[in-house]
Amino acid sequence: MTDDPVEIAMQNLLGALDVASGDLPVDDPSTGEIIARVRAYGLDEISQIIGGADDARHAWAARTAKERGAILIKWFNLVMAHQSELAHLVTAECGKPLTEAMVEVSYGAAFIEWFAEEGKRAYGETIPSFAVGKRVLTIKQPVGTCAAITPWNFPIAMVTRKVAPALAAGCSIVLKPAEATPLSALALEKLAIEAGVPKEVFKIIPVIDPAPVGELFCSDERIRKLSFTGSTPVGKILMRQAAKNVTKVSLELGGNAPFIVFDDADIDAAVEGSIASKFRNAGQTCVCANRFLIQEGVAEEFTEKLTARIDGLKVAPGLEQGAEIGPLINDAGHSKVSTLVESAIAAGAVARLGGRSSDRGGNFYEPTVLAGVTRDMDIANAEIFGPVAPIMTFADEKEAIRIANDTPFGLAAYFYARDLGRVWRVMEALEYGMIGINDGIVSSEVAPFGGIKQSGLGREGSKHGLDEYMELKYALIGGIS
Ligand code: SIN
Repeated sequence: MTDDPVEIAMQNLLGALDVASGDLPVDDPSTGEIIARVRAYGLDEISQIIGGADDARHAWAARTAKERGAILIKWFNLVMAHQSELAHLVTAECGKPLTEAMVEVSYGAAFIEWFAEEGKRAYGETIPSFAVGKRVLTIKQPVGTCAAITPWNFPIAMVTRKVAPALAAGCSIVLKPAEATPLSALALEKLAIEAGVPKEVFKIIPVIDPAPVGELFCSDERIRKLSFTGSTPVGKILMRQAAKNVTKVSLELGGNAPFIVFDDADIDAAVEGSIASKFRNAGQTCVCANRFLIQEGVAEEFTEKLTARIDGLKVAPGLEQGAEIGPLINDAGHSKVSTLVESAIAAGAVARLGGRSSDRGGNFYEPTVLAGVTRDMDIANAEIFGPVAPIMTFADEKEAIRIANDTPFGLAAYFYARDLGRVWRVMEALEYGMIGINDGIVSSEVAPFGGIKQSGLGREGSKHGLDEYMELKYALIGGIS
C-alpha cells in the first residue's frame, strides 16, 4: 500500500496497463526522476490500429448524435469524478502546480460536455432553389477516421479539445500524445472506454519517435483528417506531408502574443491580467503574453507594479503546498529561456526581477521582468515558453499596432484600454485569431480557439470546433414538379 497520491492515481486510472516496464520513460520535470515506463507503439501496430478505427467508425457514425452525446456525458462525469487523480497525473508528468492542474481537468472536461451537446446541433440547411422543380439542401457528415497529435503543456485539455468533437461528429480518432505526457491521455482513454466509447473508435498511441508517426498519419489514405497542436515548424512539415493525400488539417501552432497597455488603462487590472496571461503554466502556453508593449506615460508605473506582484510568486514543485510557478518541462526548455534572457541583458535589457535560474535547481526558472527590451532582440521575436515578461514601450496607438502586428504569428493578443473608440479600433486592427480586451485569459470551451498567419488553421472549441470534423455535403434534388 502506498500513500503517494501520484502512485494512487496511476493505480486507479492506469492499473490495468503496465506502466512500469514499457519502453517510453516518463519523468517528473520537478526532479527529473522517472515515474513511469509506458508501452510505446511501432508503426506496423499503428497501421493496424488505424485499420481497426476505420472499420469501427461506420457503426459509431450510424448511432444517433443523442446516443453518442449520452456516452460523452458519461465520459465527462467520469473525468470530473476523477478530477483530483487526473490532476495529480498532470502535475507529475508536466510539472504545473496542482491547483492549475485541477483547473485544467475541468477546462478539459468542459470540451467533452460542450461537444456532447453540440453534436446534436450539426444542422444542415435548405436553400431557396435557383430553378423551378429543383430543391437545394446540405447535410453534415462525419469526416471519417481522424488522427491527432497533442502537446505536453495541456495533457488533458488538448486531448479532449480534439477527441470530443471528433467523437460527437461520428468520427473515430487515433491520437499520439506528447512523448513527455502520455499518462493523462491514457487515463482519459480508459475513462472514455468505461463510459461506453468503443475501444477501436478512440485509441491513444504513445510512441518514442514522433516524426515517422506524423508522416504515417499524413500518408495513410484511411486518415481523412489530422489535427495538430504544437510548434509552427512541425506544423509546416505536417502540412507539406498532408498535401500528398490532400488530408484535411487543423493546426494550432506557435504564438508571439503582444500584451498592450494604453495610458487610459486600469493599470492594476492590467497587472492582474498579466499574471493570468503570462504565468499560467510558468509561461508555457501558446497564448501567453510574450511581449509587453506599454505606453510611455504609464510604463514605469506598470513595470513597478508588475515587478512587485511577481516578486511574491512561489517557485516550487507542482505538488508542494502553495506552488505557483512549476519547473520548465525539460533541459532544452530551460536552456532556451536562459539563453534568450542572457542575450537580451547583454544587448541592454535590465532585469528588474529574476533573470536567472531559480535556487530550487533543476529546470526551475525565476519569474523575470525585463525592462528596456527592444524589437531587434531575440526575446522580442521568439516564443519564450517561460516565466519571463519582456517590456517594450511605444508612443501612440499606431505604433502599438504596428509593433504588435510585426510578426509572422497571429494566435492571441491582449490589450488594456478604456476609451471605447480605441477598444474598437485596436480590436479590429490587431491581426490575431483571439483578442483579450481588459482580460488576460481568452480560453473557454464556448469560444473559437485558433490563430491566423503562421499560427495555424481552423478553430477548436465552440460550434466551429465541430465543423472541423464534418464534411458539408450539398444535394440537388431535381424532378420535383
Ligand atoms: C495552448 O497553449 O496551446 C493552449 C492554451 C489554452 O487552451 O488556453
